Amino acid sequence: MQALRCTKCRLCETRNSVVFGMGDPRSDLMFVGEGPGAEEDRQGLPFVGRSGKLLDRLMVEEMGLTRETAFIANVVKCRPPDNRDPKPDEIESCRPYLEEQIRIVDPRVIITLGNFSARLLLDTKVGITKLRGHAYDYGDSVLVPTLHPAAVLRGGGAAMANMRADLVRAKMIVSGGHADTITVEAIAS
Ligand code: URA
Repeated sequence: MQALRCTKCRLCETRNSVVFGMGDPRSDLMFVGEGPGAEEDRQGLPFVGRSGKLLDRLMVEEMGLTRETAFIANVVKCRPPDNRDPKPDEIESCRPYLEEQIRIVDPRVIITLGNFSARLLLDTKVGITKLRGHAYDYGDSVLVPTLHPAAVLRGGGAAMANMRADLVRAKMIVSGGHADTITVEAIAS
């Protein structure tokens, strides 16, 4: 696969693995995180560190699903060194891979985790704390933004409750419930 040999940005120089994605490519549900951390870079799989453990737990508790039933990907497929944020040119280089993944999986619901994926896919600078709590149209899919599990690990009870509520909202839409979508413009104003 082309992405596994990708040299389109500087992250290729420091990565151990290309963390392309995992799960069921025919799933109705897709998660999009930010980028691999140290553990993901070691194993070549998304969300296998502390954040991933929390994501797994909340998926089971709030959605009754295990990760194998969803597809999980990231905005950037290679680890930004020292856990820094991905840079705009790195995100732009990697974007075609994510867009192709979304096109192939064609999920009913996309859950974005944290700022980077929500801002990229909704094409906005509005932050996740404002965006979350609502659903948005993304092509034929419905996008449900939630907090990044790393932020929930840092943020405690209120953040955890918000992420749980977002997962419940997403689950209802995956199960065929009506999605009351709004536009980003509606919340930005
Ligand atoms: N954080 C992310 O955004 N993605 C991962 O795969 C792991 C941690």
